[in-house]
Amino acid sequence: MSVYLDNAATSFPKPNSVYEAADRYQRDCGVSIGRGAYREAIASQRMLDQCRQRAALLLGAEGPDRIVFTYSGTDGLNMSLSGLCRPGDHVVSSELEHNSVLRPLRWLSETRGVEVSFVAPRGDGRIEPSDVRAVLRPNTRLVAIQQASNVTGVVQPVVEIGEVARANGSLMLVDAAQSAGHLPIDLSQMPVDLLACPGHKGLLGPLGTGLVYLRPGLEQQLDCYRLGGTGTQSEDDRQPLQMPERYESGNHNAPGLAGLNAALAHLQSETVEQIRRVETELTGRLVEGLRSLSLVTLYGHASQERNGTERVPHVGVVSFNVTDFAPQEAASILDDSFGIQARAGLHCAPGVHRWLGTFAGGGTVRLSVGPFTTATEIDHAVTSIRELAGS
Ligand SMILES: Cc1ncc(COP(=O)(O)O)c(C=O)c1O
Repeated sequence: MSVYLDNAATSFPKPNSVYEAADRYQRDCGVSIGRGAYREAIASQRMLDQCRQRAALLLGAEGPDRIVFTYSGTDGLNMSLSGLCRPGDHVVSSELEHNSVLRPLRWLSETRGVEVSFVAPRGDGRIEPSDVRAVLRPNTRLVAIQQASNVTGVVQPVVEIGEVARANGSLMLVDAAQSAGHLPIDLSQMPVDLLACPGHKGLLGPLGTGLVYLRPGLEQQLDCYRLGGTGTQSEDDRQPLQMPERYESGNHNAPGLAGLNAALAHLQSETVEQIRRVETELTGRLVEGLRSLSLVTLYGHASQERNGTERVPHVGVVSFNVTDFAPQEAASILDDSFGIQARAGLHCAPGVHRWLGTFAGGGTVRLSVGPFTTATEIDHAVTSIRELAGS
């Protein structure tokens, strides 16, 4: 039995329609998007427009032109951070962030003198909005916070944090890498100015896809991260001002976006609400199973009821360790002996592991569910970990 429980890295499998759409694009169309007037070029532009429209609808954006396609979550976070932060700016972020936020911020502080304050989570893993308010300054340009942790699975109160940012005149950037497609998101009701997410995780598209949402007017403030050909205004050597092509220079990942377009149609018909129900049930089953194992230590939301505290909102990410096994060793045995694909280590988020106290020991083992995970697979994982732990 082969059980994929690394959906936090990228979702697998994808809906069949995603494979078919990417394959069909390459075999039957195969052209550069928006670069020609022949039939295939027009069809490819139509596909891109549809994909943008579906993404806007899914996220509650003001319109399709507010969606910029990128090549990953990291790509969109770089575009946002590097495009906004200038010398003399202050940024508030959190200790829980992924290296895709931490490293651009470190680079901005070293090369542009941008100052950064990192807020620590409270005991339950949540970033308290009042702790964000306490470090805001008059020159705080941006608050950059993840919506859900790729290690603890804990969901952050991004609406309340956004309100605090807005009251200070600061912009709010949400890293939705672990929430888009897993949690309903309605940007029309959220004080959020930018949201970056991969297309290949919860949105169920192929690797090599991602997107950024930009609140209307933000293009006046956000410098271009990548400049070049857009297939429009070719006579002008200045970057176009129009959204979304202003931020989409160079050829698109057209087969990937054809797949993402099909994935978004799948999410539209299945609904994120229904996917959330399924993933919450599977996560609960996994946590219950692991909780009964005395030699297994759970972290994040999964540890909370055991400690007598109520579980905070969370996504389908569960981190644990097994007594006497280093995380990498436990993950290797789970793969070799039980066919379970888990991710061990620091998960590109060293601050979370420092906070959890798992940094020195090499992190944790992480299991993450997706919409196609089954209860049988969860039960196999629990039985295997029980055998590994000898409990
Ligand atoms: C919280 C978080 N942010 C950002 C990223 C980066 O996304 P991508 O892998 O698409 O670059 C990830 C991926 O693991 C993540 O978990």
